[in-house]
Amino acid sequence: MIICRSVEEMRQWLRAQSAYRTGKTRTVGLVPTMGYLHDGHLSLVKRAKRENDYTVLSIFVNPLQFGPTEDFERYPRDEERDLALAEGVGTDAVFLPSLGAMYPDKPLTTVQVAGITEALCGASRPGHFDGVATVVSKLFHIVDPDRAYFGMKDAQQVAVLTQMVNDLNLDTTIVRCPTLREADGLALSSRNVYLTPEERSQATVLYKALQALREALKDRELTVAQAERLLMDTIQQSPLAVIEYAEVRTFPRLEAPARESRMMEWIEHQGTALIAALAVKFGNTRLIDNMVFDHD
Ligand code: PAJ
Repeated sequence: MIICRSVEEMRQWLRAQSAYRTGKTRTVGLVPTMGYLHDGHLSLVKRAKRENDYTVLSIFVNPLQFGPTEDFERYPRDEERDLALAEGVGTDAVFLPSLGAMYPDKPLTTVQVAGITEALCGASRPGHFDGVATVVSKLFHIVDPDRAYFGMKDAQQVAVLTQMVNDLNLDTTIVRCPTLREADGLALSSRNVYLTPEERSQATVLYKALQALREALKDRELTVAQAERLLMDTIQQSPLAVIEYAEVRTFPRLEAPARESRMMEWIEHQGTALIAALAVKFGNTRLIDNMVFDHD
């Protein structure tokens, strides 16, 4: 496994594997992360490996996507452990740029996706998705991957990046990957390490709420308003949980369906997928989760 700490090293390695040298078309899969790797990240690498000749994992805690009061400084980092885990799953190259390598100067050019970024996490984290779209666009220009792998745990991120790729004709396919969970249902996240034992045990309520909604959808008359009520009521059973949002939206456009409309009407008759999306704070730790309901 090779480790590239500058843009030039990364490009040189990619050029060395290119069709020009080998005489064959080679595909590259990219897995962008902010490190502190867990099995969720590693599941993306494993999938990229199955579907491409070369797999590049990027590790970069991107300051542009953190708000002024957010956890950029204290975001968990462990380079040595990350590299061992990356090697363990057969990553070919790790792109691990320094802050200066990615942003030698404050960028004056950024990527902004409108609309989709205004709902859900975008509403409470202004500028966050501009930071994500900008850094992912930079990574795509550096690595030029055929496919890039993203987890549905961050469903809004997937929606934003898919829109960016379509709008700008980027030659990379965004691959949506399922959310990996702990045995009790909590979605794996680098931020779970912040939870106290008591918060950790109550944090399972996010997935419980989503499962309760899946169950309730057996009632085909269930409205969007009733679904949101059910999500809130379930989460509020955990005394430490503070709800930021618990909403039903269309996916991937993230538009708000009429509150009195029936969820099944959208899914089955309009052919529009719906997402139930949650952001819940436990102390200072903000957790997100979601479930997409699609016709199948
Ligand atoms: P990060 O939070 O490190 O996540 C990297 C990738 O891992 C994302 O695509 C995310 O959705 C995925 N992921 C996280 N938890 C997961 C889980 N439990 N199951 C499956 N996949 C999971 O998302 C980012 O970094 C950044 O915004 C980034 C895209 C790297 C841009 O800076």
